[in-house]
Amino acid sequence: MELLMNLENASILELKNWEQKLALQYREYQDDGLKLDLTRGKPGTEQLNLADEMEGLLKDKMISANGTDLRNYGGIDGISEARKLGGEMLGLPETEVICQDNSSLALMYLYMLHAFYHGSQGMDTAWAREGEVKFLTPVPGYDRHFGICEELGIRMVNVKMLDDGPDMDAVEDLVRNDKKIKGMWCVPKYSNPTGCIYSDQVVERIAALGKIAGPNFRVMWDNAYVMHDLFENPVKLENVMDFCRKHGTEHNLILTASTSKITCAGAGISFLGTSEKNLKHFRKRLEVMSIGPNKLNQQRHVLFLKNLEGVREHMNKHANILRPKFAMVREHLEEGLGGMGMGSWHNPEGGYFVSFDSIPGLAAEIIRLAGEAGVKLTPAGATFPYGNDPEDKNIRLAPTFPVVEDLDQAMKVFVTCVQLASVRARL
Ligand SMILES: Cc1ncc(COP(=O)(O)O)c(C=O)c1O
Repeated sequence: MELLMNLENASILELKNWEQKLALQYREYQDDGLKLDLTRGKPGTEQLNLADEMEGLLKDKMISANGTDLRNYGGIDGISEARKLGGEMLGLPETEVICQDNSSLALMYLYMLHAFYHGSQGMDTAWAREGEVKFLTPVPGYDRHFGICEELGIRMVNVKMLDDGPDMDAVEDLVRNDKKIKGMWCVPKYSNPTGCIYSDQVVERIAALGKIAGPNFRVMWDNAYVMHDLFENPVKLENVMDFCRKHGTEHNLILTASTSKITCAGAGISFLGTSEKNLKHFRKRLEVMSIGPNKLNQQRHVLFLKNLEGVREHMNKHANILRPKFAMVREHLEEGLGGMGMGSWHNPEGGYFVSFDSIPGLAAEIIRLAGEAGVKLTPAGATFPYGNDPEDKNIRLAPTFPVVEDLDQAMKVFVTCVQLASVRARL
């Protein structure tokens, strides 16, 4: 009966009864001694197993088609075949892509350091020369982007994430009027955590920002989930570089992706794409840092994935594993919280997360309750710069890693905690 009740319409007496039942249920969960974790945005074991065949592919293939001995130093840009694959994923020609080691985050970090201290096109373009600079952060967003800015002392300015991407009216207004804004973080496809895909109009407006921004503006286009569709015929993300070429802003764009959540997380290959002019400057950092990337791993990936079609086929296998997990989260939310006025959520069609917004002021409390019942959730505020969710309402759920049975149990607890916190707040 109580599941059909709406928080707004319930009488005080009904709420009190409801609270008692929920508290009882909650204590039962506590007594179960659960140890579940919904914080980890990482592939599950079954997904990782899909890439096991990659091992062994290198036999007799350690000299590349052009005669390069891949076991030796050198080739700072990465091997041509891997750059081509990255280019297909990012929508760029091979000449505008470099392929490096395991992590796109490392490339983003290095690019930000490069732009900050050394200048994306030489010393006189370094952001550090301009005193305090700022970056736009669509929120909720990815905590590690925020970490990079925080470390460099780049002030983050929040803009609201809407269903079709960042609020572009606000973005354009800020960029036009504040020349200290040096860039913006974007996760254009299955954004972390809301799962939205930027619309064609948003992509073009972002591509055009370089025309109204101050000098040395860079859009950090983190396409981490470019291949991570859950369903067939996914919504298409427009090619942002095509728009940049149209607007003459191709130097304002830095694209990244990796195979971390395609093959092996932490043992994949990563890509950074940008104009050749930008690459020429960025290459100087790579050359100081390294005598060349792990070309054997790049070759292994190319032999395994082959081309864009090969990546798509492989990602279909991931999708078959992930669809039931996302469906389970959705069912629990709809059955346990639908129409009750206790929060809202997104039903993403790809990516790694489900973003839940509680009644304002309750996220930290829900996370505390879940934690004390043995279900670990991403800390409150993690999806906002400086760990500060001004409305204390966003909770990021990560359903990929737990096995289905654990996810089922964790979601039951989560729903109970949302109900309990919401009913108590209303009382
Ligand atoms: C938006 C986003 N970008 C980048 C990454 C990390 O990618 P990589 O493993 O290539 O560093 C993640 C990981 O969860 C992510 O969510």
